[in-house]
Amino acid sequence: MYALIRPLLFRLDPETSHRLIFILLRILYRFPGFGGLMRTFNANRTPKLPVKLFGIEFTNPVGLAAGLDKNAELIGAFADMGFGWVEAGTVTPRPQPGNPRPRLFRLTDNRALINRMGFNNAGLSVFIHNLRGHDRPCPVGVNVGKNKDTPDTNAIDDYLTSLRATYTYAGYIAINISSPNTPGLRALQEEAPLAALLAALKQEQAALASLHGRYLPIALKIAPDLADEAIDTIARLLLAHRMDAVIATNTTVERPGLAHEPRAREAGGLSGAPLRARATEVIRRLHATLQGKVPIIGVGGVSNAEDAWEKLVAGADLIQIYSAFIYRGPAVVREIVQGLAKKVHAQGAKSLAEAVARARAEK
Ligand SMILES: Cc1cc2nc3c(=O)[nH]c(=O)nc-3n(C[C@H](O)[C@H](O)[C@H](O)COP(=O)(O)O)c2cc1C
Repeated sequence: MYALIRPLLFRLDPETSHRLIFILLRILYRFPGFGGLMRTFNANRTPKLPVKLFGIEFTNPVGLAAGLDKNAELIGAFADMGFGWVEAGTVTPRPQPGNPRPRLFRLTDNRALINRMGFNNAGLSVFIHNLRGHDRPCPVGVNVGKNKDTPDTNAIDDYLTSLRATYTYAGYIAINISSPNTPGLRALQEEAPLAALLAALKQEQAALASLHGRYLPIALKIAPDLADEAIDTIARLLLAHRMDAVIATNTTVERPGLAHEPRAREAGGLSGAPLRARATEVIRRLHATLQGKVPIIGVGGVSNAEDAWEKLVAGADLIQIYSAFIYRGPAVVREIVQGLAKKVHAQGAKSLAEAVARARAEK
């Protein structure tokens, strides 16, 4: 189905086709039975491949990465498409328009995207309103960021505001300090500011857990553009602060293998196939220190089961995709889960975790 509409969508500017699809899905979901139809063609044909991690049961390990559903408008639709879970956002406390358009570019021959969206979103109150309407048994991560006009010295306040506001609605919170499109944001990955941020988050998490009688996991999303020593420092901080998970990685400001591609000169973060190898390296490096004590969500250039397997064996526990979904549509989710289920079966393992553990031990 997606193969049929893709040529039409790809004739339009990428952001226009994104908006068009969202409008279309919102209209179609007004018809009773449309969700059921989506599930029949997608979610129900996706094998169950359960993963239990930080207290959450995921029906399969493939999640939708942050940035596609910034305002939590279509979580149910993505669940119906077969995703094991959805990470919505990035949401900032106050609405903001993001950067001027054009700000999203396709590098179709390279199966890549470049974006400099700049956290365009409708703000916390709209996000929460949408999230409250979510009725599928699909875990939802809430990815939070800082408003562009919040001074860097007050960045922590923005994260705490969003943590408090979404605490009772989220399955987990993802702290985004790795978007390249908000000036100064990535500086929060440096040792001293990161230690202060993590300490503040853990303190607030403990207070909110006793207030609401429920512990909400917090994950940290990091960039691929970090030196090895910086990755090691982050890993040590994640352990020291008992963080619940790390998401590796966000988009890259590098242009690996794209020197001759004129479109690659656009400013912004690169995602898709050219990011794959670097994101896997970051996961491998994190895993060397974390040793499974802090789960890793692997993201960056995954477009088939082999790519997903590569990240799992390198140390990831779950996988997310974004760019491959733009290029291939919902079928890619099913294909990845089916491919992983085959690997589990071939190994005679009882679960994905067991199959991955065996493959890691063989390395
Ligand atoms: C258009 C676009 C917007 C994105 N927006 C966000 C965002 O708001 N927050 C975030 O944490 N990551 C965002 N990302 C990064 C993705 O979540 C993901 O980390 C990255 O694209 C790598 O995965 P992929 O290669 O499968 O696309 C965005 C990516 C794209 C392409």
